[in-house]
Amino acid sequence: MFKRVSGTKDILPEEISVWQRLEEISRNTFSLYNFKEIRPPLIEEAALFNRSLGETAEIVQKQMFLIDNKDETYALRPEATASIVRAYIENNLDKTNGFVKLYYIGPMFRLERPQKGRLRQFHHIGCEAIGSQDANLDVEIISLADNLLRNFSIENYKIRINSLGCESDKKKLVEILKTSLAEKLENLCPECTARFKNNPLRILDCKNDACKRIVSETNISENYLCQGCKEHFQKVKTGLDFLGINYEINPHLVRGLDYYTGTVFEISQKDLGAQDAIGAGGRYNNLTRELGGPQIGAIGFAFGVERLMLALKENIRIQGENPVYLITLGEPAKLEGLRILNELRKNGVACDTNYEDKSLKGAMRKANDLGARMVLIIGDNEIEKGTITLKDMGSGEQREVKAEKLINELITEIK
Ligand code: HAM
Repeated sequence: MFKRVSGTKDILPEEISVWQRLEEISRNTFSLYNFKEIRPPLIEEAALFNRSLGETAEIVQKQMFLIDNKDETYALRPEATASIVRAYIENNLDKTNGFVKLYYIGPMFRLERPQKGRLRQFHHIGCEAIGSQDANLDVEIISLADNLLRNFSIENYKIRINSLGCESDKKKLVEILKTSLAEKLENLCPECTARFKNNPLRILDCKNDACKRIVSETNISENYLCQGCKEHFQKVKTGLDFLGINYEINPHLVRGLDYYTGTVFEISQKDLGAQDAIGAGGRYNNLTRELGGPQIGAIGFAFGVERLMLALKENIRIQGENPVYLITLGEPAKLEGLRILNELRKNGVACDTNYEDKSLKGAMRKANDLGARMVLIIGDNEIEKGTITLKDMGSGEQREVKAEKLINELITEIK
């Protein structure tokens, strides 16, 4: 028997209403901010990610699903920011639209070691605003993330922010870190010893206890930020305070991807255990230029949908999607039943019946399981009299109505 690939999930019908609800809330919320949906392909040239995320990024080094095709190597997208910037440049969105706000919902792929909240195929709900350096945009983006979480009814989350500054500030930050870690090298884990050479910033989010302790002792203040970046970050903080958004400043928050510059943020939820980041984002002011486009500011974030699902205390169950359930007894009733279902659906009433030849009792149980509010019963008797028996599942009341009056009566009943 075939099994699903490790780290992937079947999203089953009983969960799907919650997924659709999250998607609907996202679409509505994004449109309040004038974001438009974009759907780039799931495969890209692998080099796009090497260039954007950086050769030393963990995702590029270890986690890409690669597909070799003749002289080219494709990758299943591990994230969407690089694809969207590629699409922005390739489709000349800068010339036709200038500043754009784009959102996306879809699967991402990372060859990680699966565990709770960490999958190999997972989903992002994310957005990218491309074409502005304005600090108020950072405030809008962080408040959008905050509003989305409220609208999802997720509680107990924390927003942490930091600024990496511009390219030369980032270099300064690396130097400060290297200087303060140089004497403690032998106490770092083997991976961090390697990171010290090729990607020292990654040491800041190592989960190893010894590394965490060493990192907590390093003194990183905002001194590596140039005047412009310091002022930009100050404006972001002032704006967030002005909107009453709760956040914490964390000078150790650096994010693992090369493209980040300036403001970065991460949102964690306290009930999730080891994988507690439900979303993250930041500015990437040099990525469009790096990928061959103009030098323009950009910022975005992405939520991990599976982690949002874990953080949802009470799943938003959607009751009674099929408010009407039809039970037919005998062959002539089955044919009449098809006509009734057809009429109901044409009139916008969601309904269903069973095709499993269940007894009346079994069919009633099924109607109950589906959360039907009304059950219609047709047997030989009803066919003869031209009626339909209507049972209200809430009150248990039962009555007969004339077939031609059914639609009108039902529509008023279930409104
Ligand atoms: P990221 O932090 O790599 O950022 O991913 C964003 C979120 O996706 C994480 O906070 C987490 O909730 C979820 N996630 C990541 N990996 C997994 C996994 N293996 N299984 C389940 N969930 C996962 C980005 O991808 C950036 N593109 C975000 C961004 C957009 N920055 C600017 N714009």
